[in-house]
Amino acid sequence: MVNLKGRSLLTLRDYSSDEIRFLLELSVKLKEKKRKTGSGELLKGKNIVLLFEKTSTRTRCAFETAAFDEGGRVTYLTNSQMGKKESLEDTAIILGRFYHGIAFRGFKQETVEDLARFSGVPVWNGLTDLYHPTQALADAMTLLEGVGKPAGETKWVFCGDGRNNVAVSLMIISAKLGLHFALLCPQELSPDPGLVQEMTGLAEERGGSLWIGRDREAALKEADAVYTDVWVSMGEEDRMEERIRLLKPYQVNRKLMALGRKGCLFLHCLPAFHDLNTGIGREVYEKYGLESMEVTDEVFRSSGSRVFDQAENRVHTIKAVMAATLVEPGSL
Ligand code: CP
Repeated sequence: MVNLKGRSLLTLRDYSSDEIRFLLELSVKLKEKKRKTGSGELLKGKNIVLLFEKTSTRTRCAFETAAFDEGGRVTYLTNSQMGKKESLEDTAIILGRFYHGIAFRGFKQETVEDLARFSGVPVWNGLTDLYHPTQALADAMTLLEGVGKPAGETKWVFCGDGRNNVAVSLMIISAKLGLHFALLCPQELSPDPGLVQEMTGLAEERGGSLWIGRDREAALKEADAVYTDVWVSMGEEDRMEERIRLLKPYQVNRKLMALGRKGCLFLHCLPAFHDLNTGIGREVYEKYGLESMEVTDEVFRSSGSRVFDQAENRVHTIKAVMAATLVEPGSL
């Protein structure tokens, strides 16, 4: 039996294929449980802190509602002393005395790793510069739910910045699960070659594959789903002009979707710039004349779009991560 009690989730690189499959199976079970009974007591008596340095809608709310559903209690902390009046080490030790688990969202992977090192309790990465592991779990769950085929017969394609935390996390989870994963990205925004080599080996051992390049037809051939993310991540706002130049040819639109299989699904971690109903979207329109960025409104709102299922699955997968790392496997 897989036993994750006491483990942190800092990156999916630290998790075996069996452990990831276990988390996905538990997520499906917890989704069904919520649908049938609404709530449970898996996290009863557990105190959880969300230490967030960056803004969030889905990740924060998914951690909170997942905890509430199973009887946990949550503190949302955005103005701590950490790194200002108090060292990371001291803050981590204190939070570890108060809480059973810590969710962190912030600028550096190093911070989430140090929190895990010093706190003595499970720490969950809710996004750093390098990885977004809880997002990738929800994405894989949504893909497999939506496509309905075994991992070794399922292909998805990420279009955009191939070095961003979401693209890299998708590459890792795909390799571990033996999915077929294609990364359609400009040469300038390609992921670390060392990681690519490692993940190619892992994917092939598990019956999957990893393809990286710029040929749209090759990338989209037999694709079951297309995934994209924003062109500029949090903290990179001054790069907008450069990213528009590099990524405009990689926009997900009707023409690109038509290169995939019939009924090809569309995925996005959200938030998305698909219309002019955001402040940044309007600024980009006024400056560069783009009505949408990484995905057109038409594809975003199409029948193949699974973006809101994906957002909902953040709750079920995060709940699975917290439960698996906080309670005995026999109670799950
Ligand atoms: N996808 C995601 O991480 O959403 P938030 O930034 O709203 O948490």
